[in-house]
Amino acid sequence: MNDSTADELLARAHALDAADPLASYRERFYGTDAVTTANTPGMPVAYFDGNSLGRPTLASFERIEKFLRADWGTRLIRSWDEQWMQLPMDLGDALGAAALGAAPGQTFVGDSTSVLLYKLARAAVAPLPEDARRAAEAGLAVPAGRGGRTEIVVDSDNFPTDRYLMEGIAAERGMTLRWIAADTSAGVTPEQVAAVLSEKTALVLLSHVAYRSGFMADGPAITKLVHDAGALILWDLSHSVGSVVVELDAWGADLAVGCGYKYLCGGPGSPAFGYVRAGLQDTLEQPLQGWMGVADVFAMGPEYVAAKGIRRYITGTPPVIGMLAMHDPIAMIAEVGIAAIRAKSIALTEFAIEITDALLASLGVTLATPREASQRGGHVTLNHPAMREVNAALWEVDVIPDYRDPHGLRIGLSPLTTSFAELHLGMLAVRDALLRLA
Ligand SMILES: Cc1ncc(COP(=O)(O)O)c(C=O)c1O
Repeated sequence: MNDSTADELLARAHALDAADPLASYRERFYGTDAVTTANTPGMPVAYFDGNSLGRPTLASFERIEKFLRADWGTRLIRSWDEQWMQLPMDLGDALGAAALGAAPGQTFVGDSTSVLLYKLARAAVAPLPEDARRAAEAGLAVPAGRGGRTEIVVDSDNFPTDRYLMEGIAAERGMTLRWIAADTSAGVTPEQVAAVLSEKTALVLLSHVAYRSGFMADGPAITKLVHDAGALILWDLSHSVGSVVVELDAWGADLAVGCGYKYLCGGPGSPAFGYVRAGLQDTLEQPLQGWMGVADVFAMGPEYVAAKGIRRYITGTPPVIGMLAMHDPIAMIAEVGIAAIRAKSIALTEFAIEITDALLASLGVTLATPREASQRGGHVTLNHPAMREVNAALWEVDVIPDYRDPHGLRIGLSPLTTSFAELHLGMLAVRDALLRLA
């Protein structure tokens, strides 16, 4: 069925690969060359989950080996002074420059995304110290949230950890969650945000690229709306960083977090990053006050005195091993430039949509991702009632997308590692599985 169309699409895939200025970067990742794929049992023939767990770089093998022998094995505790104490900020600055549009001194790496969401959101909604003092002096109850504001805005389709954490913070502070009902095949629009903002809003938490649909929200427009309402914004960039253009400083964003193991290829459990706008840093107090976030770490003083600047957002010993594999992907993003990465990402998602229209639509597959490139991140979600079974069948043949309810197959396309031929091969496997199962 459709084999002449499939052949034409294969010729297009080869032409797109031949013209791809980023094609050679694929070779810098483990498992992407034909020989390794053929000789390694279980190696994916099409990997569509770089938006969940990126592939390791070849450079990481060398870096981790060197770390074991030299930095840890030989320098031992001296490495803390020589490099590790500063690592969360150094890596944060490199990431900020390469992928976040963030000037130095505003980004750090450490903790999981969930923990950083808690730290930054809880800091953002806490009553300002002077308000708390004034209330205490007047014998009044301390206001629930920052500036007496009582609401946190969150959308119904944000990633579960984001929603659960806001539930917890609202309960802890006696605040209210103001929900935006998001379309699972789209995402949150500026109009929807404007409709829920008020003088009660303390914080708005949104994902920039929706984990389910791949919808990309309008970062600058929403940030401005939130500021006009006198509130703060926290962006979850987990599905954005390393695949789409993010300009936190230019947007005027207040706070951001994102995963290190997706497009940043830091490996499972690698730490997240956090961003706090320079002008805000010393006005907030983060709730997990540990010894590494104080002004003078080795004074080991009697009480917590927060460091000035971004260091105050660190809690304890940084996860050094977890950061190792992020170095080379971040350097690669800087080398390629995020605009070129975004151009490849758009070309990949466009080709995925073209194949869907040509080969899958007639089988009942619908697109749960915007067709408009400016509203689309780095992955494409395909809906069909049989997708749960299709996903399981694809994993059996080493074609690896993932499944998300209600019946979506996520095709994650990693600009530095996915080739157009790989995309074509995997999409044909989707068609074959649908023909067998649906
Ligand atoms: C949008 C988003 N936020 C947060 C998380 C959770 O991150 P972690 O499990 O590292 O805390 C994920 C994980 O996939 C995610 O996709």
